[in-house]
Amino acid sequence: MALRPPSRGLLILGIETSCDETAAAVVRNGLTVLSSEVASQVRTHAPYGGVVPELAGRKHLENLIPVVKAALDEAGVEPRDLAAVAITSSPGLLGALLVGTTFAKSLAMGWSLPLVEVNHLHAHALSIFIDRRRPRFPFLSLVASGGHTSLFEVTSPLQLKLVGRTRDDAAGEVIDKIAKFLGLGYPGGPVIDSLARNGDPEAVRFPRGLQRSRTSDFSFSGLKTAVVNHVLGSHTIDGPLADHYAPPLDEQARCDLAASFQEAVVDSLVEKTIQAACDRNLATIVVSGGVAANSRLRIKMTAAGSSAGRRVLFPSPRFCTDNAAMVAGAAAPLVREKRFSSFSFRPSARMKDGH
Ligand code: KG4
Ligand code: ZN
Repeated sequence: MALRPPSRGLLILGIETSCDETAAAVVRNGLTVLSSEVASQVRTHAPYGGVVPELAGRKHLENLIPVVKAALDEAGVEPRDLAAVAITSSPGLLGALLVGTTFAKSLAMGWSLPLVEVNHLHAHALSIFIDRRRPRFPFLSLVASGGHTSLFEVTSPLQLKLVGRTRDDAAGEVIDKIAKFLGLGYPGGPVIDSLARNGDPEAVRFPRGLQRSRTSDFSFSGLKTAVVNHVLGSHTIDGPLADHYAPPLDEQARCDLAASFQEAVVDSLVEKTIQAACDRNLATIVVSGGVAANSRLRIKMTAAGSSAGRRVLFPSPRFCTDNAAMVAGAAAPLVREKRFSSFSFRPSARMKDGH
């Protein structure tokens, strides 16, 4: 009979299906990533210029078994070595969450393991810990993703207080919508980021939402309208699609537009985040979520933080975009406190209070 290896710490299997990535990961003690598998659905959704919820659910169903198997194999872990199965239960696309939570419940039941629900935004906010960095509590967390733009004051891994959020579009959402309008494909973030490198960020001065207000909330819908009006202003296109697609622009004009638009998104994120950190006297700022992969945001937030005497940390890009290692990481304190979920819990498309 094979001998069991000596105790390998608190091993948690995390599963993430809230949007268009099917992901599974094994993390030890909430800190060390033993495996992190992500099956991206970008190619499925790209022809539609955005995530199609029905297709996302179907793809999760196809991908879950191979992704979980790969995560366990890569980590060299057997189900009996695990302390718990952690699953994102809110917020996200309801169909996608239902597939993931139903699957996680079945695994936990079949393997006689406890089940832990994790909030997707909290997982992003705490993702810095799985990337070998240990910010001191309390810190300010900016989570900027395709569905959310939120500021949290994080006093412990279990206490995250929402102190600001977008009043309309999320930062990633406005980036994806403008990329679609410009015919740049989906997702928009990486392509806008790369076009902007060859453009002039001061070519067009776009509005920065809620700039003169002391609120810690964000607003990006005015920016979206301004970009569309700017592009359509100099052209006339007829027909029902006129408001949805921009006329073709030459290469330099495209790069300048991408850079000027990106600058407005980045400036809004930087200004509100630094202001909130100063108002709350928080010395450390952690920026995460898919938009935190943006190269310009990383440079400008770090520079503004340093001028304001704040330390700014970003997880590496692979832990900024959706992954399951952050889910397994965020679950560790819940497992230690034995905050397990019943098998009858329901996922929620909206933010649930607490975890
Ligand atoms: O966190 P995430 O992977 O999924 C959600 O929870 O929404 O974030 C996805 C968002 C998309 O809007 C995508 O365009 C954006 O992150 N994104 C970026 C970059 N890479 C991904 N935005 C700006 N610059 C990037 N390099
Ligand atoms: Zn996310």
